[in-house]
Amino acid sequence: MSAYFDDNTLTEINLRLDILDVVAETVKLSRKGDRYWGLCPFHGEKTPSFSVTPGKNMFYCFGCHAGGNLFTYIMKRDGVDFPEAVRMLASRAGIPLQSTPSNKGADRFKRVVEVNKAAAAWYQDILEHEPAAAPARRYLTRRHLTKDIITRFQLGYSCHEWNRISNYLLNKGFDQEWVKESGLIKRSKNGDSYYDLFRERVIFPIFDYHGNIVGFGGRTLEDAGPKYLNTPETEIYVKRNHLYGLYQARDAMRKSNQAILVEGYMDCLKLHQHGFTNAVASLGTALTREQALLLRRYTENILVLYDGDEAGQRETLRAVQLLAEQNFNVEVLSLPEGLDPDDFLDQHGKEELLQYIQNNRVSYIEFKVKKAIDAENILDLQAKIRVINAVKGDIARLESSILRDNHIKLLSRQLKIEENLILKEVESNIGQLVRHPGNKSQVNRDNIQYGNYSMEEKILANMLHDRDIANTIVSQIGLQCFTSRHYNRLAAICYEMDGDLGANPGVWQQIAQEEGLETLLARLESRWHEGIHINDAELWFFIRYVERQRHKAKWRELHQRLDQLRDDGGFHSVLRLILDLDTFLHQTREGGIQ
Ligand code: CTP
Ligand code: MN
Repeated sequence: MSAYFDDNTLTEINLRLDILDVVAETVKLSRKGDRYWGLCPFHGEKTPSFSVTPGKNMFYCFGCHAGGNLFTYIMKRDGVDFPEAVRMLASRAGIPLQSTPSNKGADRFKRVVEVNKAAAAWYQDILEHEPAAAPARRYLTRRHLTKDIITRFQLGYSCHEWNRISNYLLNKGFDQEWVKESGLIKRSKNGDSYYDLFRERVIFPIFDYHGNIVGFGGRTLEDAGPKYLNTPETEIYVKRNHLYGLYQARDAMRKSNQAILVEGYMDCLKLHQHGFTNAVASLGTALTREQALLLRRYTENILVLYDGDEAGQRETLRAVQLLAEQNFNVEVLSLPEGLDPDDFLDQHGKEELLQYIQNNRVSYIEFKVKKAIDAENILDLQAKIRVINAVKGDIARLESSILRDNHIKLLSRQLKIEENLILKEVESNIGQLVRHPGNKSQVNRDNIQYGNYSMEEKILANMLHDRDIANTIVSQIGLQCFTSRHYNRLAAICYEMDGDLGANPGVWQQIAQEEGLETLLARLESRWHEGIHINDAELWFFIRYVERQRHKAKWRELHQRLDQLRDDGGFHSVLRLILDLDTFLHQTREGGIQ
């Protein structure tokens, strides 16, 4: 199953460790029934809605809908990836893990990180104390950075000499190999000596999410030469895997369940300084998929706040597309022409930025619509079609039909095109999406309010536990009877497993984990234990409901074909339609659908 760990290891960890002990390290729990309750560590709250079910090693929060198993819990709590969570839990359970070939890589990584750490401390010391760093201190004051933020992000300064950092690090006893690997020194043109990469630059250490310094950025004081220099890409420092400010922002992202994404070092720092401590920067590159996945560990809501200039807006379009494909809820704020977040805060301050965000944030689809309309000279019919084509896939991908509807209405108003025409375009895309499901989100949210169980959720929970119910559903309407992909997938797993969930929860958990469905499973389990068993009447109501929905869709399709035939109806296509219509009516009568 898993590429790194055999199933025995995972099962063994589950057997030896109790999720209660692990959670209780940081959350005060009290018992109610067969579950334990506490204040959710993943969102701010005053009354406990975070529950732990020890027998199943699962957790679920009714407030923010975070949920999963022991491994997910550690991944979320400590912001680590799955292999790291397994390692941590295995060591805690006293289970030896086989050493992998990547251990040698891990050793190199550690060495370089040690070099970087010493270098950062030294640069920091220079910035604070050396007379030669006075211009840098003045520069940072001029840029309105406070002492506190400079310390929090460990900013430093490199002097003008050519060999200071190399001499310093070698004298401290660091091996030349690792100093070279850090990228802090560069080989000279004729190849026989090294010189310091950063000279007369403000130093911005770049942390990974554990807090290891993996690279640096350096800014000139005069705007001469390249404005920023960065640690070159090495095996250790792979730019696409990191976000500036992530380490400092992780707790705030978790608590607020939102991240603010900006372009520059300065933007990120300035936002933190003004209390927007959930800001991260994409390190001056186009946002990467890896960076999006990193953010995914902490939140699924992102506000993109790129520069107001043309390049920034173009980049925004790319970034929001990528984020939406990773199932984030994306909003966009376009700053007034020419300003970046740093400038805006300098000129207008925190309150105005908050106000501006409140008034001007738009969903990424609205943003795309606006950009698509702006790109057209005149909004004639062809242009309108281009605009619809640009966003119909995005609207189709929305899981909530209310949101879909809302966007269709907006679009209809903006383009002065009838809603149902746009709806048809969008619906033709929904069909394609079912065949290409996107990434599953780790934190699974739906539009169901706490305490309100959706009918589909109830049915699915019952399917998982009651083989008879599952069989009835399959024979009547098939497995793919839910509107959400995740539900359908879980229903399919349920059927493949040929047994109810109560019998072997461990195996279920692992499969769900691998498919990113662990949150959904945990929620269904929590609700099952609250007693949401359905009776026959409810079951048959659901079956009829699904059938009715399918017929409605079929009618819509027939209408669409009729519309087309009106324009280009050849004899054979008309005949085909009549025959289809006949079969359809026949089935409808037999099925007893009103
Ligand atoms: N960047 C870079 N190398 C460059 C230029 C930019 O790595 N030569 C990256 C930096 O991370 C920078 C970001 O791209 O923060 C955005 O660049 P830009 O908008 O030009 O700079 P600002 O962040 O506005 O920097 P400042 O406010 O200091 O001028
Ligand atoms: Mn700037």
